[in-house]
Amino acid sequence: MTQTTDFLAPARLGRLTLPNRLVMAPLTRNRAEPDGTPAPLMVTHYAERAAAGLIVAEGSTPNPAGQTYPDITAIHTDRHTAGWRRVTDAVRAAGGRMFLQLQHGGRVSHPETTGLTPVAPSPVPLPETIFTPGGHRPAAVPREMTADDIRATIADFAAAARRAVEAGFEGVEVHSANGMLLHQFLADNTNLRADGYGGSVQRRVRFAVEVTEAVAEAIGADRVGIRVSPASTVNGVREDDTDALYDALLARLKGLGLAYLSLVRSDPGAGWYRRIRAGWPGVLIGNPDLADLSGEAVTRAAREMLAAGADLVALGRPFLANPDLVERLRAGAPLNPVRDRYFMYVGGAEGYNDYPTLDRQPSSESMVARDGARVA
Ligand SMILES: Cc1cc2nc3c(=O)[nH]c(=O)nc-3n(C[C@H](O)[C@H](O)[C@H](O)COP(=O)(O)O)c2cc1C
Repeated sequence: MTQTTDFLAPARLGRLTLPNRLVMAPLTRNRAEPDGTPAPLMVTHYAERAAAGLIVAEGSTPNPAGQTYPDITAIHTDRHTAGWRRVTDAVRAAGGRMFLQLQHGGRVSHPETTGLTPVAPSPVPLPETIFTPGGHRPAAVPREMTADDIRATIADFAAAARRAVEAGFEGVEVHSANGMLLHQFLADNTNLRADGYGGSVQRRVRFAVEVTEAVAEAIGADRVGIRVSPASTVNGVREDDTDALYDALLARLKGLGLAYLSLVRSDPGAGWYRRIRAGWPGVLIGNPDLADLSGEAVTRAAREMLAAGADLVALGRPFLANPDLVERLRAGAPLNPVRDRYFMYVGGAEGYNDYPTLDRQPSSESMVARDGARVA
C-alpha cells in the first residue's frame, strides 16, 4: 500500500476502498439485549461513526460459552443476525463500512453469566474477579477443552463469520488478543496442554491458525483480519517467548491472503512491533498506545504510527468519545474527553449516544450523570 503519514488519505483493504486510514477499534460497551442481539441504540452509535475508514464492531461471541460479560453482543442465532443487519444497514446508508470482531472469552466468562462452565485450553482460572449480572465474582476454574470442543468451536467461528456476512458486514476480525480464548492458547501460562495444541510455539499457535483458516474458508480470506496483542498481560496471560511465538503464528498466517493483521497497543519503538512489521507482507493496523487523548496528541500518534510502517491506524477511546472524530481531526478541533469510566461498560444511551458533535451540543439533561453530578 502507498506509504503516507496522512491518515486522511484513502487506502485499499481487501475488496474495499477506505476513504481514510482511521479504523474505529473494537469497543465492547455492554449495550446489547440480554440474548446478545444488538439494541436499537447501537444502530445510532455506529451510524454516527460511519466516517471512519473502517469500523470494527465490538467483540461478538460465536457461541454461548464464549460470552465474556453480561449484555455483550453475539452472532450465533437468526435474531442476532437480524439485529446486526439493522446496524450495518444504517452504517452503509451513512456511507460507512464495517467488520465484526469475533470474540470467544474462554476462561474470561462465568457460569452466573452464561449458565455454563467456562472452557479454556487448560483448567487455569483467571487470576481476577469477573463482572457478572450479580456483580464481581471470583473466576471459575475453566474446563479443559477436548478435541471435540476444539473442533466444534472452530466450526462455530466459521458459522459466525458466515452470519456476519449475511448480516451485512464486509468481513470479520478474529480476536486473538487481550487474553481471550485464542490468546489463552498462545500464552504459555494458560496453555498447559500436552496434545497437539500445547507445548512448542508451533503447537500453541495451532488453534488460532485453524480458527482463522476456517473463517477464511467460510467467507474468503480477503474478508478476514486477525487481532493480536504481543507481550500483553491483559486478563492474566503471559508469554515468555513473544518473538518466537509471533514468528510461528505469522509464518502460518502469511500465506493465507488475509485482509489485515491488527496489533493492539503498538508502540513503534517496541522490538516486537518492528519485527512483526518487517515480517508481515500484508496490511498492518497499528493501535497507538495513547496516554494523552487531546486532538494534538492523537494526531501526532496517528502520524507516528503510519511513519512506523502501519498502513491503517486503529483508535478506541477517541472514537468512543467523538462521533465525528474524523471531522474533528481534519479541522484541528478539540476532542471530547472520555466521560465517567462507569459508562464504558454499563448503561443505555447515557455515556454512549450523548457525546456532542461539533454541530450538535447535547441537552443539558443528558450531560447529567447517573448520580446527578454534572460530568461535562
Ligand atoms: C471500553 C473498551 C472496550 C474495549 N473492547 C474491546 C473489544 O471488544 N475487543 C478488542 O479487541 N479490544 C477492545 N478494547 C481495546 C481497544 O480496542 C483499544 O485497543 C484500546 O482501547 C487502546 O486504544 P485507544 O488508546 O485508542 O483507546 C476495548 C477498550 C475499551 C476502552
